[in-house]
Amino acid sequence: MLLTQKQIELFEEDGYLILEDFVSPEACELLRDRAAEIVEDFDPAESVSIFTTNEQTRHSDKYFLESGDKIRCFFEEESFGEDGKLLQAKNLSINKIGHAMHDLDPVFEKFSRTSELAEIANDVGFEDPRILQSMFIFKQPKIGGEVSCHQDSTFLYTEPLSVKGFWFALEDSTKENGCLWAIPGGHKSPLKSRFFRNESGDGTAMEVFDDSAWETSKLVPLEAKTGTMVVLHGLLPHMSYANRSARTRNAYTLHLIEGTANYPEWNWLQRPPEMPLCGF
Ligand code: FE2
Repeated sequence: MLLTQKQIELFEEDGYLILEDFVSPEACELLRDRAAEIVEDFDPAESVSIFTTNEQTRHSDKYFLESGDKIRCFFEEESFGEDGKLLQAKNLSINKIGHAMHDLDPVFEKFSRTSELAEIANDVGFEDPRILQSMFIFKQPKIGGEVSCHQDSTFLYTEPLSVKGFWFALEDSTKENGCLWAIPGGHKSPLKSRFFRNESGDGTAMEVFDDSAWETSKLVPLEAKTGTMVVLHGLLPHMSYANRSARTRNAYTLHLIEGTANYPEWNWLQRPPEMPLCGF
């Protein structure tokens, strides 16, 4: 057991838990360097179609939907001009890398699979945790877009619900550069929507169970210094504003699910049988 009883109670009460100095600044630097290499090696033509808007949407859906077992780079919405060309350097235009670095890249795998993380997973209630998804989030200066208020279980659904997030600040994360915000205790309310793959499997849709607005006045900033880890409950409403500052706000996230829970085949993220989900 790595967390104290008090910390576990705090997590159960608030739906999140902030653990300062959880990873070393050097470990954060290693991930940032590796992410920069991945972007350097990435050919934008892999993901961008510039023929028509519809064509682009279809193409990007496929690129996204097939990324559950791959390492792929995704652009910021504001990165392209009307001519379809990048407005600034490639390395300043990527929104995130996802979604299986923890299985496919040795540097990310080493960071993601540690005995400390396994213990925390157990402390917050997992019996058989499996790492479903990894994302490197750049939150670029000036153009790093807002992530609107959501519950992670909307996007990674299991029966019973089981997803939890491990979020790592790889740089100081503040109100100025788009830190996380969350509604303390908001995880005690039900799931509001479900994001799913359509029947033909080539697109996605959202089913809304409750269309009431989020109580955004209850959001509090979760500012975090480099090396801080935040544990997030899958039902916790959280968001981040756009980064309009001049510096990045890099973060890394893992999403875990319970191995014994049912994982519907309509979830957007799917793994082929030869690449099963693993724990720590
Ligand atoms: Fe999230």
